[in-house]
Amino acid sequence: CGIVAYVGPKDAAPILLEGMQRLEYRGYDSAGIVVSNKGLKVRKAKGRVADLAKLVPASFKGKTGIGHTRWATHGVPSDVNAHPHLSSDERIAVVHNGIIENATELRNKLQADGVVFVSETDTEVLAHLLAATVDETSTLEEAVRLALKRVVGTYGIAVIDSQRPGEVVVARNGSPIVLGIGEKEMFAASDVAALVRYTRQVVHLEDGELAVLKADGFHTFASEGLETAKEPLTVDWDAGHYDTGGYEHYLLKEISEQPETVARTLSGRIDERFHVSHLGGLNMDPRETRSFRRVKIIGCGSAYYSGQIGAQLIEELARIPADAEPASEFRYRNPVVDPDTLYVAISQSGETYDTLAAVQELKRKGGRVIGIVNAVGSAIAREVDGGVYLHAGPEVSVASTKAFTSTAVAFALIALHFGRVHDLSPADGRRICAGLRKLPEQIEEILKQGDRFKELAEKYAHHPSMMFVGRVRGYPVAREGAQKLKEISYIHAEAYPASELKHGPLALINPELPTVAIVPDDELLDKNLTTLGEIRARGGKVLMVGHREPEADLADDVIVVPKNEIELDPILLTIPLQLLAYHAAVALERDVDKPRNLAKSVTVE
Ligand code: G6P
Repeated sequence: CGIVAYVGPKDAAPILLEGMQRLEYRGYDSAGIVVSNKGLKVRKAKGRVADLAKLVPASFKGKTGIGHTRWATHGVPSDVNAHPHLSSDERIAVVHNGIIENATELRNKLQADGVVFVSETDTEVLAHLLAATVDETSTLEEAVRLALKRVVGTYGIAVIDSQRPGEVVVARNGSPIVLGIGEKEMFAASDVAALVRYTRQVVHLEDGELAVLKADGFHTFASEGLETAKEPLTVDWDAGHYDTGGYEHYLLKEISEQPETVARTLSGRIDERFHVSHLGGLNMDPRETRSFRRVKIIGCGSAYYSGQIGAQLIEELARIPADAEPASEFRYRNPVVDPDTLYVAISQSGETYDTLAAVQELKRKGGRVIGIVNAVGSAIAREVDGGVYLHAGPEVSVASTKAFTSTAVAFALIALHFGRVHDLSPADGRRICAGLRKLPEQIEEILKQGDRFKELAEKYAHHPSMMFVGRVRGYPVAREGAQKLKEISYIHAEAYPASELKHGPLALINPELPTVAIVPDDELLDKNLTTLGEIRARGGKVLMVGHREPEADLADDVIVVPKNEIELDPILLTIPLQLLAYHAAVALERDVDKPRNLAKSVTVE
């Protein structure tokens, strides 16, 4: 979901709507705004921000306002369930991201006091709670603070009070809120994307903090009411980074940016003299770097799959046992936290709640956690002991592409770093450094085959289901390929280790179920070619992604990608799968950048 707030000398509505459009990638089943001008004026609607904008007349004036794009958790997407939610006397309006866990209990109490609810949302509870508190306090922030004391759950909220025009109060607990400092105007949003057009001076709220915004500045408070001191941060991303840059979709733009984004992740981090990587952000001396006996990687969705590539790289190059697990699972299974293990949390947005909660649990138990994060200053970046920023620029399309490859590259740098304090030889260090340097140019070469991916995608897109297989280094690539296809084309896709095919899923193979096979030119090439033979013998069609055409007739179609070092090849093998998924989604006329039911960053449990 997305929150935007404004207070200043201008009309709020156009600023809110523009900001909300920038946040649509965060959730987009309904939207609403409210401005204050001798009472509150509200418009909300099911659907996209553009649908809402049509309902906002030119006469919708007011210099203080809040807006919201919603991704439904409580209550179906509808006009009534859209935010903002108002108190019964229409004095208070609230927008909210997150989940109020004790909403039912609070709702029952309020109903017993005679409050009438109009929506099914947990957020409406907040509006009524505030209405019950606001008369007893001298300031709006105090009312918000007291009302939130009764709330269990996660939230990022923005509140306005019709009797206090010129003021917005925002609060954070588990769901991000960023303040934007303008010239005699203040902004707030759940994501810097909504702010960069107006200001690059931002302040991130911590969990438990709240802030009051007025045109001439802001004050922040801890949950007990004491004022806190905050240093503004300058964001490097500007509005241009959020444009489609002439591409038809953000996804294609982000896929095409990978030569530069990978170069940026590598920039200044490779040391040719000693064949090591410089990762100052890890905050770790060589002795400490040597001390870890295991590496455990956590992340959600594509971040998790990039973590699997990372685990493979760390085991191969540093010979430290490493594995990846979904952060969403890890946090719920009461994991043993081991002092000799280095934990690595991956998150493009740095705000995914499951990953953040896993990091917090690890820290609470004394675990050592580093982050691989794209969004500078995000919650996970602030929570970890150190880490590697991707510098991939904002990723807007819901399906992750450039953040995925940059994460894999960051892992190669980490693996090199750990490898070179263990037993990775200078010669192997040199080989990996040279391989890393070649990546941007090789990605460029893959992108040049653009039309070929389109043709192939159109050829396969009418199949209702597809199989993806890969062995060892190729397996996470297959998983990510299947994930991309599912997310944006809605074609069912299943990824399996190629080695496991004959232990079950081979039963599914028939001419209607094509297989995308990841076949790198490594020591497992022959094994993989045997698998292709097994699939073909059952009448299955094969689309092979590898480094050369197979000698025998083992594939219906082959995509050839440039060869790098075997450890780094998975990074390159991923790119064709992104493009296949993209073109399949376009061929099927899907909403490529905003696939149904998904959100870019899931800041709820
Ligand atoms: C959501 C998105 C995925 C993404 C995952 C992790 O589920 O739909 O595309 O991979 O979150 O996001 P993060 O920002 O933590 O990398």
